[in-house]
Amino acid sequence: MALNYQDRIPNNVELGSNRILQRALEHWQPEFMRWWQDLGPTDFQASDVYLRTAISVDTKGWATFGYVRMPEYRWGIFLADPENDRRIGFGDNFGEPAWQQVPGEHRANLRRLIVTQGDTEPASVEQQRLLGHTAPSLYDLRNLFQVNVEEGRHLWAMVYLLHAYFGRDGREEAEELLERHSGDADKPRILGTFNEPIRDWLSFFMFTYFTDRDGKFQLKCLAESGFDPLSRTCRFMLTEEAHHMFVGDTGISRVIKRCLEVMKELNSDDPVAIRKAGAIDLPTIQKYLNFWFSTSIDLFGGDSSSNAASYFANGLKGRPDEAKFEDHVAAGKSFALELPDGAGGVRTEEIPLRNAMNEVAREAYLKDCEQGMVRWNRVIEKFGYSFRMTLPSPRFRRNVGSWASVPTDTTGKIISREEYNARQSEWLPTDDDRAFVYSRMHGVFEPGKIASWIAPPERGINGLPFEYEYVRLQ
Ligand SMILES: [Fe+2]
Ligand SMILES: [Fe+2]
Repeated sequence: MALNYQDRIPNNVELGSNRILQRALEHWQPEFMRWWQDLGPTDFQASDVYLRTAISVDTKGWATFGYVRMPEYRWGIFLADPENDRRIGFGDNFGEPAWQQVPGEHRANLRRLIVTQGDTEPASVEQQRLLGHTAPSLYDLRNLFQVNVEEGRHLWAMVYLLHAYFGRDGREEAEELLERHSGDADKPRILGTFNEPIRDWLSFFMFTYFTDRDGKFQLKCLAESGFDPLSRTCRFMLTEEAHHMFVGDTGISRVIKRCLEVMKELNSDDPVAIRKAGAIDLPTIQKYLNFWFSTSIDLFGGDSSSNAASYFANGLKGRPDEAKFEDHVAAGKSFALELPDGAGGVRTEEIPLRNAMNEVAREAYLKDCEQGMVRWNRVIEKFGYSFRMTLPSPRFRRNVGSWASVPTDTTGKIISREEYNARQSEWLPTDDDRAFVYSRMHGVFEPGKIASWIAPPERGINGLPFEYEYVRLQ
């Protein structure tokens, strides 16, 4: 299905045939633009950025590349094509026709799911708004802006659903999505991770690797939804999301590679010497990883959750890749959960599988995260070093679920509160680490040049070389 670029709001939902909805969205559009100008990327708004824009929802060739000024980006509403006779794929309504309208009894829950997802999209743009000034290269600057404009589009995707299917409540929620702000003392974003500031590029790469990946799994679960417009919306968002994780994956890999090159040059793995030579040492990278991984896994919610059970039972939110499971009803089954026993040990509790759906999604996420470790460790191995990047235990530094506030080390072993506090600087970035990383951040805006703490990418964007002028500064 081709996208309609004639309309003020590009779309493939025949917006033109629904005057009321079109007017409501055209009313929201200037508010979005105001938000983008105020809280989107600081400066660079007049620069020409080599961006990809969605032009169809076809899996082959869905995007076009070219120079765009960010405020002129064509944010639009794109849903994956409908599936003929789509059925609800899980829960108590398994096998019944998917809903084209919101069932009254599920209205509040569906709205909550859409608002929670929608809130994360502009939040990340806000978190990253100052990063442009310290981009290590024009290639990276362009990738940052690509992620930013697409998160803006994901906000549009959720706002469309709110406006089209939730009446006045939906319109109010859409306004509030622009009123809450990341880190705001009075009106913060809904989820904690999205209130963490991102001041340096190492954090940005960790965020796009770990936090955007949480987004991928949330979208996968929502793509299973019995509410068909939500499913179709999320399916197309996943197409764009892949690039965000690519930015994180290759970004971390390039920071590691640069460190290894410096280690080779110096013939030393002494962090002080490595830092002096301008690179970021591996233990510091590991600490950033520990921080962003542990904050991102909280986003899946409690390990035993009655909300998750009812979302699943009612066909609102499924498991990632639901089709891979044999039993889509998952009633009367149990899941073995490992919990702290309150006396320094671990006990296993059987809980209903439906209550463990957050945990099922989290396990799939952990597996996906591991792939990065394998790739990065291969690079380290190739350079002949024994250091290995590792994911900390999912019990480490949790704020949500059964392990919340239980002091453990990074292997998940329960330890005393004193030891936990005493070893923070071993596991997580200290103020000094953050100050050092921040001190390395300087904008490099000459085509083909790159900062000293990161290696250039193996290839450029859309078949172009790294040296291409991906952003023409104005
Ligand atoms: Fe997104
Ligand atoms: Fe994303």
